[in-house]
Amino acid sequence: MSMPSLLKITDLHAKVGDKEILSGLNLEVRQGEVHAIMGPNGSGKTSLSYVLMGHPRYVVTKGDIQIDGQSILTLKADQRAKLGLFLGFQYPLEVPGLRLGSFLRTVATEVKQDKTPVGQFYAGVKKQLASLELSDDFLSRSLNEGFSGGEKKRIEILQLLTVKPKFAVLDETDSGLDVDALRLVSNAVSTVRGPDMGIILITHYQRILKYVRPDFVHILVDGKIILSAGPELADEVEAKGYEAFKGTAPVSTQ
Ligand SMILES: Nc1ncnc2c1ncn2[C@@H]1O[C@H](COP(=O)(O)OP(=O)(O)OP(=O)(O)O)[C@@H](O)[C@H]1O
Ligand SMILES: [Mg+2]
Repeated sequence: MSMPSLLKITDLHAKVGDKEILSGLNLEVRQGEVHAIMGPNGSGKTSLSYVLMGHPRYVVTKGDIQIDGQSILTLKADQRAKLGLFLGFQYPLEVPGLRLGSFLRTVATEVKQDKTPVGQFYAGVKKQLASLELSDDFLSRSLNEGFSGGEKKRIEILQLLTVKPKFAVLDETDSGLDVDALRLVSNAVSTVRGPDMGIILITHYQRILKYVRPDFVHILVDGKIILSAGPELADEVEAKGYEAFKGTAPVSTQ
């Protein structure tokens, strides 16, 4: 493979309205790496994913986000998606009238310029549905409408399997999943994990990290990363809580 792509976040400051929610965040993610981001409620984790995707309400006031040296700050969400960014939502949107099957096909053709013939494409999607233990019926249902919490999360992973982005941001993919679903979803993430995908896994719990072993764990507090280390940091957080880490001076990520 050629040089892995690099997603580089430098001294990122962002606000919503008058409120600063990210205050000097640094993070480097290469294709092929899995980074877990942990942090207390309200520390800015979901905001980080919105800022990465270019949500218009989240305004960057300082710093930069670059993919392979090119700033993406002026790009809209769809342009960022074409560059290979993927975002899974903590609370996935319901889109009545948009069938999951057409949605996936559109994403594949528009975002990935996927030229797979329709029949072959859906055959692949059905295999992936089966691997997530979901029935084909989901393809004709409206996106996320009436899906249970766990089903939404699994469909999000189905999107990830379809899109195979360069960089995926998964926000609390593990929340609301029963033990079996957690294992299915973790297995699916482990399957797509590989040299071509960089993953930012936002989570509160280390249980998903037992299945999807991260290369790096970062602790985000008050809008910045205050500590970065290997996977053992997740166990330490579980044992000690976040309070133990507050007041730690910010460190560079790598
Ligand atoms: N649109 C918004 N308007 C006002 N405040 C916001 C908005 N979005 C985020 N915030 C605030 O920014 C802070 C960070 O929120 P964020 O959702 O990023 O936290 P989080 O780390 O994802 O928390 P959790 O673990 O509970 O999901 C919170 O205080 C939140 O209320
Ligand atoms: Mg959140």
